[in-house]
Amino acid sequence: NIPQKVTVKEVGPRDGLQNEQEMISTEDKVEWINQLSETGLSYIEISSFVHPKWVPQLGDALEVAKAIKRKKDITYAALVPNRKGLERALEANVDEVSIFMSASESHNKKNINKSIEETFPVLQEVVNEAKQEQKSVRGYLSTVFGCPYEGSVSIDNTLRVCHELFEMGIDELSIGDTIGVANPVQVEHVLKTMDKYFNKDHLALHFHNTHGTALANVLTALQLGYHTFDSALGGLGGCPYAKGASGNLATDDLLYMLQGMNVNTGIEHERLLDAGQFIQQKMNKSLPSHHMQILNKG
Ligand code: HMG
Ligand code: MG
Repeated sequence: NIPQKVTVKEVGPRDGLQNEQEMISTEDKVEWINQLSETGLSYIEISSFVHPKWVPQLGDALEVAKAIKRKKDITYAALVPNRKGLERALEANVDEVSIFMSASESHNKKNINKSIEETFPVLQEVVNEAKQEQKSVRGYLSTVFGCPYEGSVSIDNTLRVCHELFEMGIDELSIGDTIGVANPVQVEHVLKTMDKYFNKDHLALHFHNTHGTALANVLTALQLGYHTFDSALGGLGGCPYAKGASGNLATDDLLYMLQGMNVNTGIEHERLLDAGQFIQQKMNKSLPSHHMQILNKG
């Protein structure tokens, strides 16, 4: 009962780069996104309109959004934490706005400087205004499978925040393993519980691969019928406000597995690896995914 078609949402230009200390030029980001646009991906998260002091690497979000060559059938999205961020995102004319918060109180506070309760009205305002501008809205819920400050996170907390986010009017919610601690048994438990309340067509999974469990977690989610996954080319990534967060699930490794299972994604592996080679050269370091490593070894 594995879905025959899966949507892969590339978050490399945002989640992949946000934690990189070495500044990457706007021009290189634009060229990378243009290359990603040629791989068959249908969704690319291009940057983030958070405070540039908090995430300096993505301070050029507006310039990036204005310079990329857009393809009609691709959704170009960006992270937005509040009204100020939305103003900038609207000026950049992104197709979709992604709001975000955490299931755990301490990570929410460290990441966006507000309690969970204080966050709801801020995000509600973003959703309302984004909708008025005919933008679709995605939500992210972080630390669902574990918090870097609190350890385990109760499923009741998660469900409560999920309900609030859907009530706000978001179109899709991405369930995040921010620090990559989840395992398949836990994923099965969380997703089976969520199934009681939410439609899986409106849910995505966002795994990080800190402990090497991301692909196993994907398989579990696939077997439960989930069909939208976030990943970053080359396994780049991590949240700067989550100690221990490391690379995202790698798009190239995910694609290899899906293709081998005859699951259709519309993405071309070769082109993806070319785009991976481009950015790793610009970053002057080798990307951690299995397929980039294979390539690098020649
Ligand atoms: P704050 O300091 O509490 O903000 O930060 P504030 O509302 O008090 O405003 C302070 C000043 O910042 C004001 O300027 C605002 O205008 C300005 P002043 O009046 O003093 O001159 N300001 C802004 N400027 C530009 N853009 C903005 C903006 N907002 C306020 N958007 C804030 C609150 C949310 C802004 C800050 O905490 C922040 O930017 N946090 C972002 C942290 C972040 O990006 N984390 C990583 C992304 S989340 C993630 O990676 C997880 C995910 O991948 C899923 C997963 O893995 O689980 C999505
Ligand atoms: Mg993430």
